[in-house]
Amino acid sequence: TAEQFQSGSLTGKTVFITAGPTREAMDPVRYISNHSSGKMGYALAEAAVEAGAKVKLISGPVNIPVPERVERVSVESAEEMLEASMLDLGLCDIFIAAAAVADYRPTAIAEHKIKKGSEEIMELHLVKNPDIVATVANSSPKPFTVGFAAETKDVLEYARSKLERKNLDLIIANDVSRSDIGFNSDENAVTLISASSTESLPQASKRQLANRLIERISAQYKSTAR
Ligand code: CTP
Ligand code: CA
Repeated sequence: TAEQFQSGSLTGKTVFITAGPTREAMDPVRYISNHSSGKMGYALAEAAVEAGAKVKLISGPVNIPVPERVERVSVESAEEMLEASMLDLGLCDIFIAAAAVADYRPTAIAEHKIKKGSEEIMELHLVKNPDIVATVANSSPKPFTVGFAAETKDVLEYARSKLERKNLDLIIANDVSRSDIGFNSDENAVTLISASSTESLPQASKRQLANRLIERISAQYKSTAR
């Protein structure tokens, strides 16, 4: 509960958080993106600041003001988000990847606005984006690295496989097949999974959930030998 929220648990610590969608340009006026609101990442940034951390919020395009005492770095594409994430990564104690990164981007950005052709079918070629959280988790020194897994089925199984595949310390799984909570909603219910523990948190506002997540993350960070 909010009362159990201990301020000061992250005093002296630096936390990097990615948030929001990325935008992958096709031409000067078009892009591929997704409906991520950025609410979860911004709520985590606020909660981390209240816990005493210095916070760098690496954000794709969203409609949320910069929280007080948060340093926001605005980016558009996944490649820009990766670059901003790796900059000064040596100063980062805890990295939280809350962004909905586009998995693919157009293979090339057309210099001029693409014209409508005479063909009914238009093909767009895409190339895989870098995996930001996996790159961070495989760098050295490695911060305590936390990912999210938004799944529509086999939620815990997929989340566990991402925890391992990306070399994460913790993954926060949520079921986005439930239309009442998750992705673009104000409420969320999640399960925290590490190599040695699984813990479900009840449905709550994203802000309340953020406080609880920051407490769990800081507790696990402190108990992890490094
Ligand atoms: N992530 C990332 N960079 C990417 C893709 C994902 O940092 N290029 C991060 C997300 O911010 C999230 C975690 O990885 O913390 C899981 O993202 P998700 O989209 O669920 O995983 P993917 O590996 O992209 O797998 P898929 O979309 O196929 O489920
Ligand atoms: Ca993905």
